[in-house]
Amino acid sequence: MKNLVFLTGAGMSAESGISTFRDSGGLWEQYPVEAVASIQGYERDPELVQKFYNERRQQLSSVVPNEGHKLVASLEDQFNVTVVTQNVDDLHERAGSHNIIHLHGELMKATSSRNPNDPNCIITLPEDNPIIRMGDKAKDGSQLRPFIVWFGESVPMIEPAIEKVSKADILVVIGTSLNVYPAAGLLNYTNEHCKIYLIDPKDVPYNPNLGIRHIMKGASEGMKELVELLKTT
Ligand code: OAD
Repeated sequence: MKNLVFLTGAGMSAESGISTFRDSGGLWEQYPVEAVASIQGYERDPELVQKFYNERRQQLSSVVPNEGHKLVASLEDQFNVTVVTQNVDDLHERAGSHNIIHLHGELMKATSSRNPNDPNCIITLPEDNPIIRMGDKAKDGSQLRPFIVWFGESVPMIEPAIEKVSKADILVVIGTSLNVYPAAGLLNYTNEHCKIYLIDPKDVPYNPNLGIRHIMKGASEGMKELVELLKTT
């Protein structure tokens, strides 16, 4: 089976009702990114940051995977599929995808403030009450914090993602503005025979030398077109 890798961003979940970050009306227009998505912001005002992610988590229980997520999962019948996602939601999981690399963490998980990547400290929050309170402790005794990779922190999952992208026969990029590194740099690790598709209703700045085929549609409609195109690949 051919290796098919998806690189997804906020646009993948937009049709499920989760706001993107940089579109007009996006999350970073409502909340200053430095305040709620940087390690300095957390150190300055942990209560505000906990509140922000508690709200995001509660919102997650009211949304469902869209057709695009489902079509990504359905391709596991024909391809060796890996989903590399910048999204912290769990909609790829809920749509049935099995091999998912979360580059920027997972909203439904919490971890240690002292050592966020210590596997012994990472826990899944209960679905019926996915709240972190100040005073809740991780296994190492430090304050529990969201398991999110903030600006200013390392991205440990980039290594397995590079490995997968470098072996991809087909790479499909969906709904990311390709503004945030190292995720955006993954396109540069494709090998010379890899076919690259991009699904996004807007123009996205990418290296024209990569020979990318841009399907200028939203995630669900774009995935329908991609499924047809892959039948002739
Ligand atoms: P952005 O908000 O930067 O980009 C969203 C992209 O989705 C844009 O290119 C839109 O045109 C596109 N889009 C909008 N609606 C769409 C739809 N229905 N179908 C397909 N595409 C659509 O989001 P990301 O690139 O994912 O990190 O942002 C990357 C990272 O920046 C995030 O993971 C987050 C943020 O800061 C952290 O919080 C650590």
